[in-house]
Amino acid sequence: MKKKKIVVFSGAGMSAESGIKTFRDSGGLWEEFKIEEVATFDAWLKNPALVLDFYNQRRKQVMEAKPNKAHELVAELQKTHDVQVITQNIDDLHERAGSKKVLHLHGEIMKSQSTVNSHLIYPLKHWEIKLGDTCEKGAQLRPYIVWFGEAVPEMDKAIELTEEADVFITIGTSLNVYPAANLIHVVQNHVPKYLIDPNEFNLDYIKNLTVIKATAVEGMKVLSKQLHELVYP
Ligand code: APR
Repeated sequence: MKKKKIVVFSGAGMSAESGIKTFRDSGGLWEEFKIEEVATFDAWLKNPALVLDFYNQRRKQVMEAKPNKAHELVAELQKTHDVQVITQNIDDLHERAGSKKVLHLHGEIMKSQSTVNSHLIYPLKHWEIKLGDTCEKGAQLRPYIVWFGEAVPEMDKAIELTEEADVFITIGTSLNVYPAANLIHVVQNHVPKYLIDPNEFNLDYIKNLTVIKATAVEGMKVLSKQLHELVYP
């Protein structure tokens, strides 16, 4: 039997139980930092040292963090399903948990990018990018992050993958940031959809949506059992 395609769309809440702060919860990162000072191209032009420091701190935290049980349960789904993760997260915890197909919409903290050629992307082994660190063309390196106001190069690919989903699971995103938040609207009406998040959502207009009001770990424990029965009745 052909494996069913599960698309998992994750946000910051996916990694919350690994100790990585979300952005918009109380105590979240955007309470501590101003987006326009650390996460836009203008911020980079005005104060690259501050922007580098902000992302260096994020990288340090990610390197110290471990995948949680929810990342592991998502990876385990691969045993029986064709699983595509589409994540807004810049961490590599899905990959470290064993997920093979992971599309990052907002970049990857463990990579740097040339400031003269966006196709020049390099893996990072250390936590720090410093002023003076350069690409092979001699230009300053920046974090490989999609900042606010920048295009989301992987969005078309994400839409294509989402249109093919037999099951769509959203985990730990406030669905506040576009275009990523549009993905849930791209899923076909008849496709079963699940949303795992401790927060309240008003998404009654979305067809075939089951809301599991729980953390990523608790929600995935419940859902991974259900999924097997749904896909292989
Ligand atoms: N398990 C699951 N969900 C959780 C948990 C948890 N343990 N803790 C919090 N959440 C939920 C919150 O209820 C909220 O709905 O995670 C969501 C986090 O929302 P945001 O902080 O807005 O994060 P996200 O949706 O991923 O943000 C999107 O915004 O700042 C940018 O580029 C950044 O990719 C990010 C984008």
